[in-house]
Amino acid sequence: MAQTILILDFGGQYKELIARRVRECNVYSIVKSGDITPNEIREINPIGIILTGGPNSVYDENSPHCDKEIFNLGIPVLGICYGTQLLAWSVGGTVEACSNLSEYGKTDMIVDTESLLYKDMDENQIGLMSHTDQITVLPEGFRSIAHTDNCKNASIENIDRKLYGVQYHPEVESTPNGTQIIRNFLYNVCGALGDYNLKDLEAKLIEDVRAQVGDEHVLLALSGGVDSSVCAALLSKAIPGQLHCVFVDHGLMRKNEGDEVEAAFANKDLDFIRVNAKDRFLKALDGVVDPEQKRKIIGAEFVKVFEAESEKLPNVKFLAQGTIYPDVIESGGSHAATIKSHHNVGGLPKNMQFTGLVEPLRGLFKDEVRILGRQLGLSADYVDRQPFPGPGLGVRIMGEITEEKIKILQEADAIFREEMKKNQIKADQFFAVLTDTRSVGVVGDFRTFDYTVALRAVKTSDFMTCEYVPVPHEVLGIASSRIVNEVDGAGRVVYDITGKPPATIEWC
Ligand code: XMP
Repeated sequence: MAQTILILDFGGQYKELIARRVRECNVYSIVKSGDITPNEIREINPIGIILTGGPNSVYDENSPHCDKEIFNLGIPVLGICYGTQLLAWSVGGTVEACSNLSEYGKTDMIVDTESLLYKDMDENQIGLMSHTDQITVLPEGFRSIAHTDNCKNASIENIDRKLYGVQYHPEVESTPNGTQIIRNFLYNVCGALGDYNLKDLEAKLIEDVRAQVGDEHVLLALSGGVDSSVCAALLSKAIPGQLHCVFVDHGLMRKNEGDEVEAAFANKDLDFIRVNAKDRFLKALDGVVDPEQKRKIIGAEFVKVFEAESEKLPNVKFLAQGTIYPDVIESGGSHAATIKSHHNVGGLPKNMQFTGLVEPLRGLFKDEVRILGRQLGLSADYVDRQPFPGPGLGVRIMGEITEEKIKILQEADAIFREEMKKNQIKADQFFAVLTDTRSVGVVGDFRTFDYTVALRAVKTSDFMTCEYVPVPHEVLGIASSRIVNEVDGAGRVVYDITGKPPATIEWC
């Protein structure tokens, strides 16, 4: 078992980032709620604890506090922002609102290089500050090890108790040497060995799956997305011959995508079941124009197909899914028994014979899942794919969904993606949409009345908000002319320059 750093969450937006930074330093990390008990901590047996930031003021009664006993366990602690104020306040220091202005943004700091936290670093550092409170009186036994013009206790330490705090955010890129500071905490203070790496982890995950499953058979709902695909690759290595993957092709995939998913798994040692259900999906969607109704129909149809398939595999005891760590954190960490309402597959069947869930990736972040996928032999092209909505092109075709419209959109989308790739345009998600607007054109001597295709490319880190990407006009021009020339039924191309909010990323 790898050494573990325990991250306690006090409502800050960067908890996942802190956990990832720790893992980048080859130390395993987990996130738990800040109200964890000392006994639960002892059971986890971490080599160190990191307290996250948060939006509250520690002196407010309703702000999140932790059991003060945590600071007497002999386990090194690093507080970040609110976490450092909480640490100081809990052991007898004073925290007050900043008297002049709150500090915000990249800030020059002078650090004490005698401290283990800043060992071998330059004394001039930059830290991202974002605080309206600060530590005004240090607790007994503490000293300041960094200051800025406006903050005399930008970092604090008590060497004997191994308690450390930073007022800034070392986990963000705007603190240029932040990862080094975290590394110093891990290696100089907590005695980390650096025993976490994905190669060893792969072997461990395989061992765990084998121990859990024994000789039983497992059914994996494979959507073709990164998480469930990596899960399939891992399970096929762990339990060859016992894995059945059900991939429901609803006919609303991107061009060639169904075949690509099949090709990625065809040679693996698993039972790959592709259910070509296009006809039944199109039938169910016939004449439907309301976007929400389309989603509901696609979701319900998916469940029916999946249920029908699982009935054909009566001896399967486990259901596997590609749940990853952010899914677990988001649901408060008490996720063990719930079947994830899978965003990508539109909900899973409820009345089935499964006795257990297999979720080997539930401790990993997306970027780690991608690395693992490559390690397992999935091609880079495959594991770096952008998110694709479960209802597929169903949410990218305005108005009624017909076979003709799917074909137009698949072709136009493939051209746009090809041009974006060829011209190395960076965007987090990009695709074509088929609007329900037709317009007049002229091809040769003939009048046409064809569909308008909209192109969309967005930059986003969390997909909750986005900005449009200013794709160069030349690239848009080439994509547009190729689409109207090469795709039957596409008569005009427009580019979507709306952000989210107010627009969403998908059109419906
Ligand atoms: P919106 O359109 O809400 O999309 O701005 C945000 C992100 O979620 C994806 N998306 C979906 N994914 N099922 C999914 O699995 C859906 O119904 C769905 N709707 C949107 C979208 O592609 C974007 O990445």
